[in-house]
Amino acid sequence: THNHDHEIADVLVVGSGIAGCAAALQAAREGSDVLLLTKATKPDDASTDWAQGGISTTRGDPESLKADIIAASDGTADPDAVDVLVENADDAVEDVLLETLEIEFDETSDGEFDYTREAAHSNYRILHVDAATGTHILRPFLNHVADHDRIEVRQDTAALELITHEGRVHGVLSDEDPTGYPIFAGTTILATGGIGALYTRSTNPDDATGDGIAMAALAGADVADLEYVQFHPTAYDGDDPFLLSEALRGEGAVLRNGDGERFMDDYHRDAELAPRDVVARAVETERAETGEVVLDVSTLEGEFAEEYPAIAQKCRDRGIEGAEIPVEPCEHFLCGGIDVDGRGRTNLDRLYAVGECARTGVHGANRLASTSLLEGLVWGLRAGEDAAGLDADPETVEAPDLRDSDPDLPERFAAEKSIRLKRTMDEYLGLERDPEEIARASAVLRRLKGEVDAYIRTRTARDLYELRNASVTALLIARAASENTESTGCHYVVNDANETPGEPEQPADD
Ligand code: SIN
Repeated sequence: THNHDHEIADVLVVGSGIAGCAAALQAAREGSDVLLLTKATKPDDASTDWAQGGISTTRGDPESLKADIIAASDGTADPDAVDVLVENADDAVEDVLLETLEIEFDETSDGEFDYTREAAHSNYRILHVDAATGTHILRPFLNHVADHDRIEVRQDTAALELITHEGRVHGVLSDEDPTGYPIFAGTTILATGGIGALYTRSTNPDDATGDGIAMAALAGADVADLEYVQFHPTAYDGDDPFLLSEALRGEGAVLRNGDGERFMDDYHRDAELAPRDVVARAVETERAETGEVVLDVSTLEGEFAEEYPAIAQKCRDRGIEGAEIPVEPCEHFLCGGIDVDGRGRTNLDRLYAVGECARTGVHGANRLASTSLLEGLVWGLRAGEDAAGLDADPETVEAPDLRDSDPDLPERFAAEKSIRLKRTMDEYLGLERDPEEIARASAVLRRLKGEVDAYIRTRTARDLYELRNASVTALLIARAASENTESTGCHYVVNDANETPGEPEQPADD
């Protein structure tokens, strides 16, 4: 299908995590020809592959899961969106994960599913494969879509811009050609994932640069809830951080401060199983006051190394042999994103968004554990079905022109600016936000985006576009954070409204 100056597809999916795979699969099942474009070159370029704890089911009680989701969100989740999730959860898991992909979730010795539990879940209802669930779902899923007759998977290919014409989205410009390669599509589904790469430390792969959010916003799509950046309370505190699944706390691991004392009881009646934002801030406070916080896995019900081999291996790789693992919160998940309805439709004609880049309303201000794979799966299927049902013919329209004469790009420009962006986000848009600091961040980010814009559209260098996307998304996060002066869920505002404002500080200089 690769002809020379452009290409067409019925349904174009951008991104190859669980949401993109689900969208592609369902559109293909409905008879559409699907092109799945992904900048990934290997499975672990997608955050899905990094997902540990598991995927929630309702275990026959959708109302109870719904109540937990809404409680974890501080009452801000959209109940209609949560209904879509819980009403479709078990069918989606059964259809795709159990029947189509035949994933072997962990079972007990009597052959029942070995459901686990994580923070703020009132019941054991999470399916998992040790604590490496994402890997065990994504790899067979990628193989399955790659083998599908109606799906073509193209790796190592980035979408640079959406192609829009008269209020409709007609596909994307990809980086297959140095001046941009148009792929025209009847419908376009963004499934590009989250924003971990906007921070120095995150539980996401390095390429989570907010691409879909930036491209959609630049094309005029509505975004929402972007201030709700979720920090996971227990990432390894050291170089090359990795996640220590909440399932460990769900199964009995405890947090101890630098004095060796448990402290979560002082912060919340659910102690270690309090909502994530509460635990994350408590860990930060205790680290500041007592020097360090460790996750003690000696109190686990089962044997750590046996039950959680993948995590135990990561600990050994970093020289941790004992039961106490130093932890620090780090960026984990973006609750907001491109605003979509119950079928993943954005406000732009023929554009859908699913998975972490979308804001469905399910998470509100704070996401409940083990609902992100589920949301990606459910909304991916629904968007794929809806997109195929539109039966929209691809149209070739005028595509944006990338000039091929480049102003001289300083060496290491993208690498250096991206470090600057991350430091700004770490410092000013982390676990706690101060209105004055958010304003400083916006000033720094605006300037940075201006510098990037001087080069963008003149070349297709992927790192330059990733930096553009990261800076657009970072600015949108800063804007959302500045507009919301109330602490809710994972947006925690240090309230200095009653203090006399001093001299505003100047934005940090390059
Ligand atoms: C974890 O395993 O702790 C992560 C689960 C999630 O973020 O949903």
